[in-house]
Amino acid sequence: MKLRTVIKGIGHALPETVLTNDEISQFLDTNDEWIVQRTGIKERRVCKLPHEGTGFLASVAAKEAIERSGVDPEDIGLVLCATVSGDYPWPATACNVQDALGIPCPSAFDVSAACAGFIYAMDVAAAIIESGRVRHALVVGVDCLSKQVDWTDRSTCVLFGDAAGAVVVEGQENTDRGLIETATFSNGAGALHIAIEVGGSKYPFGSPQAEGKKACITMNGREVYRFAVKAMGDACERVLEKAGMTTDDVDLFVPHQANLRIIESASERLGLTEDRVFTNVQKYGNTSGGSVPLALYEAEQEGRLEKGMNVMTVGFGAGLVWGANLIKW
Ligand code: ACO
Repeated sequence: MKLRTVIKGIGHALPETVLTNDEISQFLDTNDEWIVQRTGIKERRVCKLPHEGTGFLASVAAKEAIERSGVDPEDIGLVLCATVSGDYPWPATACNVQDALGIPCPSAFDVSAACAGFIYAMDVAAAIIESGRVRHALVVGVDCLSKQVDWTDRSTCVLFGDAAGAVVVEGQENTDRGLIETATFSNGAGALHIAIEVGGSKYPFGSPQAEGKKACITMNGREVYRFAVKAMGDACERVLEKAGMTTDDVDLFVPHQANLRIIESASERLGLTEDRVFTNVQKYGNTSGGSVPLALYEAEQEGRLEKGMNVMTVGFGAGLVWGANLIKW
């Protein structure tokens, strides 16, 4: 029987500092009403303490996932970190997590797929597990975009927050649990709809080429919005089709938490009513790579995810990239 990639344990991490819309409106020309109406976001968490950052949050989430999984760290052969805001441009944050948790010499690398990062990383982990090369993998989704936004740009900074989520997955035979099907996509023609242009090899910091360009997140909000609604619906329809399932088979929909309006539009297109859709964007904003695993963690904590349920996760983001995973919990 085919090996299945089963989630054995899940963890999360959030920075201590809460930043509300009202607090932002004290230093920026914005207000709670505008932000809530356009995005659903009330507050977000931001890394303020000196020790808080991407590697730190990733390690805290990973530690909790390992503890809850009961898997011995020595048995983890693969560490994947889905992030676009690593502690350093390189080396990979996955190596930081490996070191912090003392996992002896696993394969470790980062997956760069922005807000679809966790969807992509689960796909990669499952492919490696199903090949039989490793039995256990640690998959972390984490981002600290509060460090990458321009805090004077009201059209972007209000949207994002910092968080991490992590899972330990195990290859198992003779089970129908685990990752059922996955579908991932990209379209690089939309690369500059949401990007950080400066700091790479094309526009190095301080270079003449970089003049006039920003070293923080720039976004064409309307384009991204249009793309997001279509991409989420398309990815979900594709993954369901591949699995021979329909939305009637989905017990819980856990979408990337970017914007409540985007989630509502995608859910409506898929015919999924509120009782089958999980949201926590109100409390955390868009936490990019951390968003889907954090939502899965909270859904489980709140008793909305139980063993045997079919959960559909979906993400979209910079690249442009998008994708969906179907998991039997
Ligand atoms: N407070 C008050 N006014 C604001 C704010 C703010 N925070 N931001 C923008 N405005 C103003 C604009 O200046 C504009 O004013 P004007 O008409 O006088 O010029 C007005 O509000 C309308 O601006 P729009 O950009 O048209 O607002 P829109 O309804 O499109 O909402 C938003 C903007 C919320 C950003 C929306 O476009 C969106 O959610 N897009 C998708 C973003 C997203 O999900 N990005 C994440 C991608 S995932 C990843 O990879 C990281």
